[in-house]
Amino acid sequence: MRLEGKSALITGAARGIGRAFAEAYVREGATVAIGDINIEAAQKTAAEIGPQAYAVKLDVTEQASIDAALKAIEERAGGIDILVNNAALFDMAPIVEITRASYEKLFAVNFSGTLFTLQAVARSMIARGKGGKIINMASQAGRRGEALVAIYCATKAAVISLTQSAGLDLIKHRINVNAIAPGVVDGEHWEGVDALFAKYEHRPKGEKKRLVGEAVPYGRMGTAADLTGMAVFLASAESDYVVAQTYNVDGGNWMS
Ligand SMILES: NC(=O)c1ccc[n+]([C@@H]2O[C@H](COP(=O)([O-])OP(=O)(O)OC[C@H]3O[C@@H](n4cnc5c(N)ncnc54)[C@H](O)[C@@H]3O)[C@@H](O)[C@H]2O)c1
Repeated sequence: MRLEGKSALITGAARGIGRAFAEAYVREGATVAIGDINIEAAQKTAAEIGPQAYAVKLDVTEQASIDAALKAIEERAGGIDILVNNAALFDMAPIVEITRASYEKLFAVNFSGTLFTLQAVARSMIARGKGGKIINMASQAGRRGEALVAIYCATKAAVISLTQSAGLDLIKHRINVNAIAPGVVDGEHWEGVDALFAKYEHRPKGEKKRLVGEAVPYGRMGTAADLTGMAVFLASAESDYVVAQTYNVDGGNWMS
C-alpha cells in the first residue's frame, strides 16, 4: 500500500498503459481519476476497476477542460498528489508528406497537453503545500529520430526536455517531475502503429509488430504491466530524491 490515501489523476487512462497504471495505483491504495477525452470509455474503465476509480471528462488540448477536471477532482478528493501525463496520439508519414494538421494535432495533445496539465496541477499542488509527484509519458521515440515518425519523435523529445526543466523548477516545492520512456508496448495503440507501418513500408499487417518485438533485447514486446513498477515507484515516497529524470523501461532497446 505504497500510495495509501493518495489522490491521482492519470490522463488518457480509459485504456492501454494509463488504465494499467490506474489499476496499479488503486492496488497500492490510491484513489484515481481516469481522465480521458472518451468519457464513455473512461466511465466503463472506472466501473471495472472499482470504487477507488472514477471517470473525469478531460481534453488535454483545452484549458477550460483541464481547469474543470481539476475542479471536479479537488471537490471529490481534496486535491491531487500524483499526476500522470499519459494521453497522447501517434501519427507517421515520410517528411515530404507530413501535414500541418498532423503536426498541430500531435503537438497539441502530446506536448501542449502535457505542459498545461502539468502547469495547472503544479499550481494546485503549490497552493496545497503538500508537494506531489508528476510523471510524464515519454518514449524511446523521444531519444532519437525515426525516418517515418518525425513529429511523434519530436513531441516525445520535447516531453523529455520539459521533464528536465519542470523537474528542476518544481523540486523546491517538493514536487518531483520525472518521466518514463517505454519501448514498444503491445495494445490497441500498437494496432494503429502497425497499420501505419504496413501502409508506408508496404508490409503485410502484423509484420512490423512481430519484427519490433523480436528486436527487443528482452525477446518480446513490452506489456502495460511491465511499466507499472516504475510508475508506482515514481509516484511513491521511495522516489523523493529522484528529480527531472527519464527512465527507459523498454526491455533493453535503448541506453541513455
Ligand atoms: N504503446 C506503446 O508502444 C508506447 C510506447 C512508448 C510510449 N508510449 C506512450 O505511453 C502513453 C500511453 O500509450 P498507450 O499505448 O496506452 O496509448 P493509447 O492510444 O492506448 O491510449 C491513449 C488514451 O489517450 C486518450 N486521449 C487521446 N487524446 C486525448 C486528449 N486530447 N485528452 C485526453 N485524453 C486523450 C485516448 O482516448 C486513449 O484512451 C502515451 O503517452 C504514449 O505515447 C506508448
